[in-house]
Amino acid sequence: MDKLIIRGGTQLNGEITISGAKNAALKHMCAGLLSAEPLILKNMPTKLRDIGSQVELLSHLGCEISKDGTSTMTIDAGNITTKDAPYDIVRKMRGSILVLGPLVARFGEARVSLPGGCAIGTRPIDLHLDALKQLGAEIKLEDGYVIASTPNGQRLKGANILFPKVSVGATENLMMAATLAEGQTILANAAREPEIEDLGQCLIAMGAKIKGLGTSTITIEGVDSLNGATHTVVPDRIETGTYMIAVAMTGGKLRLKNGHLDHLSALVPPLEKAGVTVHEEDGDIIVSRDKNTPLKGTDIMTEPHPGFPTDLQAQFMAFLTQCEGAGLITETIFENRFMHVPELVRMGADITVQGNSAIVRGGNNLKGAQVMATDLRASVALVLAGLVAEGETTVNRIYHLERGYEDIAGKLTACGAIIHKID
Ligand code: UD1
Repeated sequence: MDKLIIRGGTQLNGEITISGAKNAALKHMCAGLLSAEPLILKNMPTKLRDIGSQVELLSHLGCEISKDGTSTMTIDAGNITTKDAPYDIVRKMRGSILVLGPLVARFGEARVSLPGGCAIGTRPIDLHLDALKQLGAEIKLEDGYVIASTPNGQRLKGANILFPKVSVGATENLMMAATLAEGQTILANAAREPEIEDLGQCLIAMGAKIKGLGTSTITIEGVDSLNGATHTVVPDRIETGTYMIAVAMTGGKLRLKNGHLDHLSALVPPLEKAGVTVHEEDGDIIVSRDKNTPLKGTDIMTEPHPGFPTDLQAQFMAFLTQCEGAGLITETIFENRFMHVPELVRMGADITVQGNSAIVRGGNNLKGAQVMATDLRASVALVLAGLVAEGETTVNRIYHLERGYEDIAGKLTACGAIIHKID
C-alpha cells in the first residue's frame, strides 16, 4: 500500500496552483450523458482517482472519453450502449450515483448500484429517489440496485419539489434530470454550493434553461434536447482551504493561484480570529502567518454552504491542535465524521468527542507517528498534522488522499515541505 513519509517542522513558502474542483468535475462528467453531442470540459483534475473511476463508469455506459493535454476532457455520449451502472465501479465513489438522473431523463431507464465512497456515516440516497419519483420516474430497489424507469419510456414531467433536507447530490441529480423533463421544475430548499452553480452554468452552456443558481430555489424549464458545449471547471475550494489551513499551521506565506476567496467565506473569519492573515491579490489568495505569533483557538460548526464546509472540518481540527486555548467543532452534516480524532490523538493531540462535538485543547506539540485514515478529508488532516509534528509521520494507505488531491506531495514539496511517497 502506498504511503507518505513526512518530516515535520518546515514552513511553507511559495505558490500552489489550485486544480479544478473534484466535486464539480464528477458531476459535469455526468451532465455529458444528457446530450448526444460532445461536452468539452477544461480545468479538469484528471489525475484524481475519483475522476478515473468516473471515466471507467461512463466508458462502461458507452461514452467515448478523450483527454487533450493534462486538463481537458471530452465526453461523447452519442452512442450509449447500456444504462446499467454496476456495483464494482459505483462502490468506489459516491459521485457515481449522479448518472441516475441524466440516464433516466434522456433514456427513460437506468439501473444503478447503490453507491460507496468515504465511510462517513450512512449516506442514504432517499432524497434523490423521492424527488425523481415526483418527476414521474418509477423506482424499484432490487439486489442492491436502483432501477428507475418512466412509464412507456416517456419524458420525465416537471414538478415542484421541496427537499426535506439540504443535499448537494440530490440537488444536482434533480437539476440534471429536470433539464430534459417536460415543463417546469422548481427545486426548493436546494443546496447552494459553488459546485452546483458551476454545474448549472455547464448545463446552461448545453442549452438548459435554469434560473436561481446559487439560491435555495432553482427553477428549470425542461427542453427537448441538450447540445454539446465547452465549459471550464471552477477551482477546488476544498483544496484551496486545505492549503490555507496548511500554511496557517506551519507558518510562512503561500500564494494560491486561481483560489476563489468568495467560495470560502466561512473559513476566513475563524482563521483571521486565530491570527492568520488572508487577502486576495490579482485573482489569487495570499495566506500568511508569522511562526512566532501564537494562534488562538476558535469554534466552528459545519453547515450547508455558505456555512463552514464539512469537507474542511478534519483539516480545521488539525489546525486547532496548534492553537493556544480550546476550540469547539460541531459537525452537523455527517454523523460519523470524527474518524481522524484517534489518529490525531496518537500524534499527541488533546481532543474529547461528545456526540457530534469535539473539543480540541491545543498548544501541545504533535509527535510523528504511523497513522492511517479511511476517508479523504481525514487523510489530508493527518498530512497537515505531519507537517508540524516533531520527527517523522507515516500516513499509511493514501488511497483516499489520491481520490481528491492532485499531486499533494509535489505541491507541498515545492513550497518547502519534506514529503516522500513510498509505493
Ligand atoms: C457532497 C460531497 C461531499 C460533501 C457533501 C456535503 C460530492 C461527490 N461529495 O456529498 O464531499 O461532504 O456534499 O457538503 O460532491 N442525505 C440523506 N438522504 C439523501 C442524501 C443525503 O439523508 O438522499 C444526508 C446525508 O447522509 C448527509 C446530508 O444529507 O447527512 C448531506 O449530504 P449531501 O449534501 O447529499 O452530500 P453528498 O452529495 O453525498
